[in-house]
Amino acid sequence: MKILVTGGAGFIGSHTVVSLIENGHDVVIVDNFYNASPKVLEYLKEITGKEIPFYEGDVCDKEILRKIFKEHQIDIVIHFAGYKAVGESVQKPIMYYENNLVSTLSLCEVMKENNCKKLVFSSSATVYGSPKELPIKEDSSLHTTNPYGTTKLFNEQILRDIVVADPEWTVVLLRYFNPIGAHESGLIGENPKGIPNNLMPYIVKVALGELECLHIFGNDYATKDGTGVRDYIHVTDLAFGHVKACEKALHDTGALTYNLGTGTGYSVLDLVQTFEKVNNVHIPYQIDPRRSGDIAECYASSTKAETELGFKASKGIEEMCRDAYLFAKKQ
Ligand code: UFG
Repeated sequence: MKILVTGGAGFIGSHTVVSLIENGHDVVIVDNFYNASPKVLEYLKEITGKEIPFYEGDVCDKEILRKIFKEHQIDIVIHFAGYKAVGESVQKPIMYYENNLVSTLSLCEVMKENNCKKLVFSSSATVYGSPKELPIKEDSSLHTTNPYGTTKLFNEQILRDIVVADPEWTVVLLRYFNPIGAHESGLIGENPKGIPNNLMPYIVKVALGELECLHIFGNDYATKDGTGVRDYIHVTDLAFGHVKACEKALHDTGALTYNLGTGTGYSVLDLVQTFEKVNNVHIPYQIDPRRSGDIAECYASSTKAETELGFKASKGIEEMCRDAYLFAKKQ
């Protein structure tokens, strides 16, 4: 299959490109480097041994998409490109809605023009809001608390409506839990600009001595040790989930939704302690008040992805902590 990957130089996108190539597929990347570095393309070549066709551009721009479709016979698109910072989305809702929705609309329009009707969409567990049941199943109620999350929910709805209008379409909506870790080579990984918002990139910067101490947001949740519990999944496992989703999309039609998580929750303190143990470093921390908008616990039911996609995450939090630090040390 030839697969167009939007946002293919980003954190999840780049690992997915590797996994697709390892599984025998051809890949074309479009990325505008808004949240990624051009160096990633060199590393992708080093890891895969392949020269991957690349287009620098914005997915909102239909002309660049038309050029790609003219030059390549694309079978499936995986759509990662989009803004992803929760806090920033609260400050800049117009920017988030415009970019994250217009990109999907432009992409679908150009796909339709080219009779390419298979799309895998990068959604998020954020669409479940504060979960009513644990583990969270795909048919749980949906609710969002910030514009970033709402763009994911709206995009899901847009794609479902496209399938209703034309049943020849297949859309696979993948709801990610908390991807961390990095490729085992240490060449590609997560490298957010500025002070990280997310837990693992923050821990890594404390380990490197770039930040003084980790701020743990609350230790009074109704969890085993009072800190927030999440379903961390190794990014290379998550990437392989996309290969499985593409294989499913090839033979199926309709709108299909899957959680991509491990099904196991770990607390902030679990992650800190595991990171310290496997990397032999000390992570000083202090307990701060809860972060507004955070939930106590969130982990996936992974049964549907297991039975329908044949996808099961295989890496544990030790590997996630080891690989995240290996990548960070190489930067
Ligand atoms: N946390 C800290 N200190 C930090 C950062 C995070 O204690 O400096 C805690 C949070 O309170 C939470 C846990 O670590 O309990 C995980 O927080 P993250 O920010 O790493 O991840 P979230 O679960 O809040 O959000 C992530 C993504 C969202 C996505 C969501 C899906 O950032 O984009 O998972 O569930 F929508």
